[in-house]
Amino acid sequence: MIYITLITFTSWLLTLTVGQNLVLIGGNLRVDNAIVWEKMVKLAGGQDVARIGVVSASDDVTTEGDRVIGTFLRLGVKVTGIPVNESRVNDTAVVNLIMQQTGIFIVEDSEDKPASFWNRFTSLIRPTDSPGEPSMGVVCYETASYKRQNLLETLRPSGVDSPVLRAIQSVLKKGGMVAGNAAIMGKAPVIISGDSISSLLAGTRFFSSPRDQFSFRKEGGLALLNMEYVIDSHLSEKGREVRTIRTLLESNITRGIGVDENTALVVNNPLAMPVGKVVTALGVISGVFYVDVSMVPAVSMTNALYENVIFSFFTVDDSLDFTSGKVVYPSWKKRMFGLEQFKSAVPSDDIFSLVWPSQWRQTALRLMNCNEMNVTSHSPASIVPLVPGVTVVFDRSGAVGFAAHLPDNFSNTYVISFQGMSASVKVLRIL
Ligand SMILES: *[C@@H]1O[C@H](CO)[C@@H](O)[C@H](O)[C@H]1NC(C)=O
Ligand SMILES: *[C@@H]1O[C@H](CO)[C@@H](O)[C@H](O)[C@H]1NC(C)=O
Ligand SMILES: *[C@@H]1O[C@H](CO)[C@@H](O)[C@H](O)[C@H]1NC(C)=O
Ligand SMILES: *[C@@H]1O[C@H](CO)[C@@H](O)[C@H](O)[C@H]1NC(C)=O
Ligand SMILES: *[C@@H]1O[C@H](CO)[C@@H](O)[C@H](O)[C@H]1NC(C)=O
Repeated sequence: MIYITLITFTSWLLTLTVGQNLVLIGGNLRVDNAIVWEKMVKLAGGQDVARIGVVSASDDVTTEGDRVIGTFLRLGVKVTGIPVNESRVNDTAVVNLIMQQTGIFIVEDSEDKPASFWNRFTSLIRPTDSPGEPSMGVVCYETASYKRQNLLETLRPSGVDSPVLRAIQSVLKKGGMVAGNAAIMGKAPVIISGDSISSLLAGTRFFSSPRDQFSFRKEGGLALLNMEYVIDSHLSEKGREVRTIRTLLESNITRGIGVDENTALVVNNPLAMPVGKVVTALGVISGVFYVDVSMVPAVSMTNALYENVIFSFFTVDDSLDFTSGKVVYPSWKKRMFGLEQFKSAVPSDDIFSLVWPSQWRQTALRLMNCNEMNVTSHSPASIVPLVPGVTVVFDRSGAVGFAAHLPDNFSNTYVISFQGMSASVKVLRIL
């Protein structure tokens, strides 16, 4: 009796003090990023209460699952590996196990089944990227694209919630925490493969042969964020801004979000009125890209000219209301107007670079922090593979920036957030 009362009391306490939270991880979350891991533990009820289930679409716990389990164990939290395959996803015992958790971490590194060999040749969406070895010391690393499809197909076959996914939703509704790669959490289409260049050129009259075909899953993701936003991860580091923009235009959705690596957007109330707060590692300028394509003319795609793309960038402690698009900056950040530190902007000559990370972000932040109002960057043409050049113009005349040195005692990092910059992206003829 006392035992039952205690459990009831604890779960009420959790509901009242913690609330529903979805942790959108921007990929390559380092196992030593204490701020983000401790945040997840706290949102799952704190070290003493938290019971975290690590869900993967596999027969057994995967490499990434092992890392997640190990990291939570080091923080002194109770953690259980919960691999689910197509039969276990309907299993009452698995459903009950999930319901006992106060937190769920969804792992994308699903099993590489022999069956997917056949899928490679039958599916329209081909896993052109090779799995490779996961990078050391990180979770939510990039896996082969068919693994993302396998995870989504297992938990939400043809866009219908499985019993296990419904159990995960109820953990969230009871006031628990659900975390995982940001890119799979929305209900809007989920990007499966391709980079900014291949997405920009797909279906246009500009002849090209990019190596990694652009594709996305129309049925959407796990729908744990109940709002029409296309979401991407590894955003700045892999230059994915245009890939997000193109997915929005293809799927007639106006707003998108991209989370940087080793960064999280912690979303409170994700199923009703979501508000997200940016959480990063110590001393870094990374954050969240926000884009709105409602002003982009309809003819853009065939002409491969995308004008009036309005974008923003949010850094640590900024919070974003997903419904209104309003942002609240912490009081330690100051309005930038008149405080710009540099005379001129610095354009990038490889704005979507896969080699030099975060060119788009760097160029935009520098523009905010100088006396010029626009900057013209390029993406170089190439012969093998055949890819045309691209020009990207940023204009900050409508933008408002907030910036400050981080309020820590060691990093001296100057972080810049802004809202309302406009971009125009134009593909150039090859010959
Ligand atoms: C699912 O995984 C379990 C082990 O966790 C295994 O016994 C079972 O055969 C698997 N089912 C399928 C359909 O692969
Ligand atoms: C799981 O349940 C769904 C309906 O909820 C059903 O369509 C599917 O065939 C079941 N899968 C297995 C492997 O029993
Ligand atoms: C796009 O969405 C808007 C509003 O959501 C709708 O009015 C319009 O018909 C849609 N267009 C297409 C081509 O689906
Ligand atoms: C960029 O700004 C300059 C003035 O600073 C202006 O003369 C020029 O027209 C602008 N270019 C574009 C493409 O808006
Ligand atoms: C910075 O140092 C001061 C004085 O040593 C200390 O009071 C404060 O808590 C420190 N702030 C942080 C964020 O570490």
